[in-house]
Amino acid sequence: MKSKIIGSIVAVMFMFVASAAMAGGHVTPTAPADYLSKKAPKKASKKALEKGAKTYKKKCKKCHGSKGDGKGTSAEGLKVAPTAFSAAGYMKGRSDGQLYWIIEKGSEGTDMEAFGLGTDANLSEKKIWRVIQYMQKEFTK
Ligand code: HEC
Repeated sequence: MKSKIIGSIVAVMFMFVASAAMAGGHVTPTAPADYLSKKAPKKASKKALEKGAKTYKKKCKKCHGSKGDGKGTSAEGLKVAPTAFSAAGYMKGRSDGQLYWIIEKGSEGTDMEAFGLGTDANLSEKKIWRVIQYMQKEFTK
């Protein structure tokens, strides 16, 4: 019984390490439950999308690239590569709340800084949703 339990713990640990190794040693953290349940506003007006595009170009493009492929001008040589949003299926696999959390709080140990209120960028909730809606519209493949 005991060895069975230890066996499954070892197996789970192995799977974790193997998937981390495939991602170059880094696993993007998952948002806490209270963030995962957040939902983007249902409709994005033309104006909201334009504003989201502006924020993206000003603050995100240099790493994530104008096409969302993760190949911005500042992307090269970063320890953890900027996420390629335009990769097939990527945006479909990320919930609104997960995207929101990383943009607001950043991802520790990577160059993905926090952009929420109180940071240098100081993006309000509304501005974060607009940039998310822009990204979902432009980069979903
Ligand atoms: C200095 C480079 C840099 C800039 C600028 C930057 N990012 Fe990132 N971003 C990263 C890196 C590196 C990661 C990968 C983090 C990880 O995997 O933990 C990332 C990851 C992400 C993710 C992935 C979350 C997930 O769960 O898949 C989102 C969404 C994101 N960034 C949005 C943005 C937005 C929006 C902006 C602009 C407001 C921005 N980023 C600006 C480097 C950057």
